[in-house]
Amino acid sequence: MSDISSEIHRRRTFAIISHPDAGKTTLTEKFLLYGGAIQSAGAVKGKSSDRHATSDWMEIEKKRGISVTSSVLQFEYEGYCINILDTPGHQDFSEDTYRTLMAADSAVMVIDAAKGIEPQTRKLFKVCAMRNIPIFTFINKLDRDARDPFDLIDELEKEFGIGTYPVNWPIGCGVDFKGVYERDKKSILAFREFHSGRKRVSGVECDINNVEQMDALIGPYAREALVEQIDLLDGACFDFDLEKVRTGKLSPVFFGSALNNFGVEAFLERFLQMSSEPLAHESEGEVVDPKDENFSAFVFKIQANMNKAHRDRIAFMRICSGKFERGEEYWHTQGAKAIKLSQPQQMMAQEREIIDTAYAGDIIGVFDPGIFSIGDTVCTKSKKIKYAGIPTFAPEHFAVVEQIDSMKRKQFAKGMTQIAQEGAIQIFFEPGSGMERVVVGVVGVLQFDVLQFRMDSEYGVKYHKQDLPHQYIRYVDNEDADDAYMSSLRLMQSTRWVKDVKGRNLLIFVGDYEITWALDKNPGLKLSEFNQNC
Ligand code: G4P
Repeated sequence: MSDISSEIHRRRTFAIISHPDAGKTTLTEKFLLYGGAIQSAGAVKGKSSDRHATSDWMEIEKKRGISVTSSVLQFEYEGYCINILDTPGHQDFSEDTYRTLMAADSAVMVIDAAKGIEPQTRKLFKVCAMRNIPIFTFINKLDRDARDPFDLIDELEKEFGIGTYPVNWPIGCGVDFKGVYERDKKSILAFREFHSGRKRVSGVECDINNVEQMDALIGPYAREALVEQIDLLDGACFDFDLEKVRTGKLSPVFFGSALNNFGVEAFLERFLQMSSEPLAHESEGEVVDPKDENFSAFVFKIQANMNKAHRDRIAFMRICSGKFERGEEYWHTQGAKAIKLSQPQQMMAQEREIIDTAYAGDIIGVFDPGIFSIGDTVCTKSKKIKYAGIPTFAPEHFAVVEQIDSMKRKQFAKGMTQIAQEGAIQIFFEPGSGMERVVVGVVGVLQFDVLQFRMDSEYGVKYHKQDLPHQYIRYVDNEDADDAYMSSLRLMQSTRWVKDVKGRNLLIFVGDYEITWALDKNPGLKLSEFNQNC
């Protein structure tokens, strides 16, 4: 195998998703411990202490104790090179999360065993399902009281419409948690000790048919209950089918306790066997082989001012094919220009490191002088390609934002434009108004706080904000939709006409009844959903 092929072959790139508090950070931390990438538990995040996740780049995150932006971590384990894309669990940052999922080849879904599927898990799952990416489920916190495992897998299957394959099965829960039964080995891994730190829990393996040893380990009552449950499970559940796993139709399910390090290594090992190496991406109808030696990547996230001292702006790219080499001149498809990617870096656990090479599957951050937009392609000059953009989600909250200090007009325009380019907000203009008054649309309301904080701290601008009651936005698709046509439309009083940065006409509505009203009163009016590519 060539250098490129073997490097790509050993790569795995997955996103870790969950509803807040299900244990995503704890599980990530344990993965990093196994990879030797961090030395102590609590290094990734200590919410109740003053430690903060490696992803807590922004002041606001520290203040709120939530992770706003997605972070990327890389570590080595048993010959594999693993990229984890951490996703913010907070519901207000769903758009950033959605984009992150575009850069992953599979997803690890962490579920709290006492709660089952929660709203954020539901939303995230839908995006994974849209892309048919494999989903591996880790049902966490078995050391606490949990719901019936049959109920939990039933819920997954019914709500998500996919099959599940429990790779292991819990024996009790809470104070009665005795361990897990490993279905392929037909043996149990007994839960012996509580360790939340660096030490691995060394479970004791035992053949399920060895009654004496089983009774000694988990007691006759738990053994009998287990045998009954396994019978039921073997009869009722789906057969294992790797092809179905890899196309997102069957989710392998694991039970464990991230905090106690129980079931984590077994999960990691099975995950690495079942997940695939970096997947191919499409460029204008053509499938690009990840092992093609020509480098190509797309930008899925732009983060400004990660380091206040440098006032930098970083574009995160997912490498889709070939090998990246520092200092090489590449082609920026959307800018139609040759560029050198400066300060290419990767998050290696705690540190950002400048790197010389990276391969398909890897995520690199590069210094962005303001030329990149989300969805842009960067590739080798000799083989120009263009990856499909990343869909933008329709904003659901709107506000009119107006600058206060006319001396800061430039900073206001710059800040609004840059933050909009990053994709954190959408900006619109009311016909006739200039850059000093914009309509801001966001997917989650917390993004308004982030905007205000960043405009103040990074651009030195304060503004006046008036929340709007609007919730729906539609493009006006009629070809002859000029200003005269727009002004002639019969609309309810609360419906507002705005333009996007490209001058396209849109309408924003308070309720969906207004949309029906507009369509009824204006025969021929064509409205389309807001899901443009950035
Ligand atoms: P998140 O990233 O999905 O939001 O969840 P996180 O890992 O931060 O975990 C949320 C809380 O659940 C944390 O407690 C964490 O210690 C706890 N937790 C995670 N996995 C397990 C588990 O397997 N068993 C039990 N019992 N608890 C678990 P916290 O009190 O909010 O924070 P901290 O004081 O532990 O940092």
